[in-house]
Amino acid sequence: MKLIRAIKPIQLLVSLLVATNLLTMNAIAEETPKPATIHNGQIKISDKTFSCIREMTKVRGFYVDNLLGDIEGTLKTAQSENGGTYPPGSLVQLVPGEVMVKHHKGFNAATKDWEFFELDATKDGSKIRKRGFADVVNRFGGNCFGCHIKAKPQWDMICETGHGCDPIPLTKDILALLQKTDPRCKNNEALTEVEIKKLAYLKKVLSATKPDAQ
Ligand code: HEC
Repeated sequence: MKLIRAIKPIQLLVSLLVATNLLTMNAIAEETPKPATIHNGQIKISDKTFSCIREMTKVRGFYVDNLLGDIEGTLKTAQSENGGTYPPGSLVQLVPGEVMVKHHKGFNAATKDWEFFELDATKDGSKIRKRGFADVVNRFGGNCFGCHIKAKPQWDMICETGHGCDPIPLTKDILALLQKTDPRCKNNEALTEVEIKKLAYLKKVLSATKPDAQ
C-alpha cells in the first residue's frame, strides 16, 4: 500500500519533467538557433558568432552558413554555376582564421556589403582580431578587399579558383588540413604522421612570413 502511494507522486513528477522538457524543446525549436541578431536594423556580430568551421555547410572547398537563417539562399548562390549575389547574413570561410559576412544591401557599396574578419581561433573559441571593409589587412600583409575585389562581378567577391583573384600560396591539401584541425572543433580526428609533418612545416613557413608576429 505504502509503495503504491509512493509511486504516484513519482509518476506525477516524471510526467511533469517530461512536459517541461517538451516545452523547453519547443521553445528552442522556435527560436533562431544562430547567435547573430538584428540590432537597429544591422546584423550584430561578436566573437560568439563564429565557431567550428566544419559545423557549417561545405560547398566545394569552402564552408558557408547564414546568420539570419537563410541557408537555402546562401547555398543557392554558392552552388550556382553562373554566380549571383549572396543574401544578407551569408557567412563564408575557407580557413578558420578568415571570414566574410554579408550585410544588408547598401551597407557598404565598395565591398558589395561584405565585411572582412580576421580571427584568432583557439580551443577556447574565436576572438575578432580585425574587422572592417576595404581596410582589413591579414596577418601576412595582404588586404582582403584588394584580392577579393578582383573576382569577376558575377562571383560577388568570392575568389575560389578561376574567378579572377590572385592565387593564395596554400595548396588544396594544406587548406583541407587547416579545416580538419580547426582548434574550435570538439571532434578533431587524430592526424597521420604525414599530416603532422605538413602542419609543422606550414607553421614554420607561416611564422617566417608573418610581418606582425608579436
Ligand atoms: C592574396 C590575395 C588574398 C588575400 C590578401 C585574402 N584572400 Fe581570401 N581568398 C583568396 C583566394 C585566391 C581564395 C580562394 C582560394 C582557393 O579556393 O583555393 C580566397 C578564399 C577566401 C574565402 C573563401 C571564399 C572564396 O572567396 O573563395 C574567404 C571567406 C576569404 N578568402 C576571406 C578572406 C579574408 C577575410 C581576408 C583578409 C583577412 C582574405 N581572404 C585575404 C585571396 C586572398
